[in-house]
Order: sequence, then structure tokens, then C-alpha cells
Amino acid sequence: MKALVYHGPGNKAWEEKPKPVLLEATDAIVKIYKTTICGTDLHILKGDVPEVTDGRILGHEGMGVIEETGTAVTSFKKGDKVLISCISSCGKCDYCKKGMYSHCEKGGWILGHLIDGTQAEYVRIPFADNSLYHIPENADSDAVVMLSDILPTGFECGVLNGQVKPGDSVVIVGAGPIGLAALLTAQFYTPAALIMIDVDNNRLQASKAFGATHTINSVEEDAVKKVFALTENRGADVAIEAVGVPATFELCASVIAAGGRIANIGVHGKPVDLHLETLWSRNITITTRLVDTVTTPMLLKTVLSNKLEPAKLITHHFALNDIINAYDTFQHAAREKALKVILTNE
Ligand SMILES: NC(=O)c1ccc[n+]([C@@H]2O[C@H](COP(=O)([O-])OP(=O)(O)OC[C@H]3O[C@@H](n4cnc5c(N)ncnc54)[C@H](O)[C@@H]3O)[C@@H](O)[C@H]2O)c1
Ligand SMILES: [Zn+2]
Ligand SMILES: [Zn+2]
Repeated sequence: MKALVYHGPGNKAWEEKPKPVLLEATDAIVKIYKTTICGTDLHILKGDVPEVTDGRILGHEGMGVIEETGTAVTSFKKGDKVLISCISSCGKCDYCKKGMYSHCEKGGWILGHLIDGTQAEYVRIPFADNSLYHIPENADSDAVVMLSDILPTGFECGVLNGQVKPGDSVVIVGAGPIGLAALLTAQFYTPAALIMIDVDNNRLQASKAFGATHTINSVEEDAVKKVFALTENRGADVAIEAVGVPATFELCASVIAAGGRIANIGVHGKPVDLHLETLWSRNITITTRLVDTVTTPMLLKTVLSNKLEPAKLITHHFALNDIINAYDTFQHAAREKALKVILTNE
């Protein structure tokens, strides 16, 4: 089969690899129909995720059809249409029993990281019963792929951890796919203000179409001043960090209201200053989280019923074997006006 293979920082190739085989009784082999590229794949290609070794097939998002199942898999059979979760979970360890699938002792985020991933014609999914989800025949396959990672990430790490409530003012720093997923799912709770901050005017414009009440370009305007002006000088009840650099976390800490919640989503590679000299008295909660994907079944229902329309996040379509061009588009997101790209294996 063909797959997108990582060959160390800056190097990748679309090349021939052996078709995966069942290794454990709990495995399934899925024939990929749709997959996508994540910001995290770009982090890997920059060399930011050194556990990823030469020869690894990338990708942790996608959907497809079951090709083969191990003898212990009871919920899926050949021919079933399935959503692949970016998190593989055994369902049995202490962390899984707490709903912290991301920290599963035998799984977690391993796809396209510690084991071969979804940017291929076939993928082996460990703990298939707990890591795959049935999707109805008539479901929009493109929309469903947004449930592998970005929707549960924006919702769990941003909206749930930030405890967004009706009437809240919410700031989201970063209008990439993850920040926009937080923007879409925050609206389950009818916040009064949804303020998006980014440096890319195209993404800010997209945010308006997805429900932002206000947008701020933090290069062109003083973001802190503007958030206070928009919130009767109190600051935001919730600040969601969806970039992953020190400046954006510090911006969240600068705009938070007394009693507010700062929910970090971004993957950070550098230390960040925490200004306890100003925050200690302000009753702030700070949360961090790796997406658990425990809310995937609920989010799937909202997508199937069109309450949530994540297909709006897809800006570009490619054939799977054109993935090198898809990477080029995604790597130049501002120039290409790209949000999510979808790859189809026909
Ligand atoms: N916690 C988790 O489980 C989890 C899961 C998936 C992704 N992530 C992380 O979430 C973050 C966002 O992911 P994404 O795919 O949306 O990334 P992305 O790179 O597509 O989007 C980031 C956005 O931040 C904007 N930005 C960059 N610098 C900025 C600045 N100084 N001020 C304001 N905006 C700025 C960019 O213009 C871009 O629109 C990444 O760090 C990613 O690794 C975390
Ligand atoms: Zn991802
Ligand atoms: Zn587990």
C-alpha cells in the first residue's frame, strides 16, 4: 500500500509500505476513505516531537471501512463504516475507567506518533472496540473526520475545562481549526460574547461566519485594551489558549476577569511566565488537558443532527495520493486561506 512516511525533521515521502496486519486480538484493520492533516503533524515535521522515529506513517485523524477484525473485537465487523479516534484506549486501565483515555496505560495518542497512522491506504487500530465509532451509511464523511481530533479537543480542553456558561464572555486566542472548534462548541452554552483573537485576518473573518461576536487582530490592535473595552472593564470569564506559544498564554492571563478560567489547549515547547504577582488574588482557575475524546459519541450526535456543522471548516480537497501537495497547502495556511484539508482515498 501507499503511505505518507516521516523520515526525520523536514523529510517526508509518499511511498510503498507493507499493508498492516492484525497484531493483537483486539486490533482492527481499517481501509481509509478520508483523512486529514493536523497542526500536530506539522510540529512532528519540524522535529518538535522527537518520539516520532524515521519510517513512521503519520496521521491520527480519519474514517473508513473495517477490512478485518481480531478475534476479541465484538462491536465491529468487516464492512462497517467507522470514525477513527485520535486517541486509542483499552477501556480497562485505571485512567480509562476515569474517562482519561488520553492517558490510557496501553494507548493514548499513539496513532501517527508511536505506531503507524492514518495517512495511508490502510491502518491498524488497537483496542478497536473502544477506539472506533460506528457511523451511519448516510453520514457526511467529510464532517465526521472533524470528530477524530479537532472537535473533541476544542470542546474538552477549551469549552468544558473553561466551564463556559450562559452569558459568559469568552476569549479564544488562536483561530486555527482547534480554536474554531472551540468557537463552534462554546455555542452549546450560549455565551454572551465570543471574542476571537488571531494575527490572520482571513481566519478572523471565518470566525465571524462561525459565530464570533467580535474579532481582534492582535498585531493591528491592543488586544488587552479591546477585551476590557468589550467586557465593561472586567475582562473575560473564560480565556481559551489555542496557539501554543508563550505570548498567547500570557495574553489569556492578561485578559481574564476575577473568578475566570484559563483553559490551555496549545501544545507548548517553551516555558511560559506565570504572573502570580498579579493573579494570586484574582480567584483564577488554570487548566491543561490532552484531549480524551470521551465526548466523541455526544459530539457525533450533534453532527449527525446538523446542530453542529464542522464541514464548514474544510477549505480544500485532495486525493490521498496527492498528499504532498495537500501538506504544502496546509503548511502555507495563511497564503492558501486554508483551514482543514480533506484527503480522499477512492
Ligand atoms: N491539548 C490537546 O490535546 C491538543 C490537541 C490537538 C492540537 N493541540 C494544539 O492546539 C494548538 C492549535 O492547533 P491548530 O491546529 O488550530 O493550530 P494552527 O497552527 O492551525 O492555528 C494556530 C492559530 O494561531 C494563530 N497565531 C499564531 N501566533 C499567534 C499570536 N501570537 N497571537 C494570536 N494568534 C496567533 C495563527 O495565525 C493560527 O491561526 C496547537 O498548539 C496544537 O498542537 C492540542
Ligand atoms: Zn491532531
Ligand atoms: Zn486504558
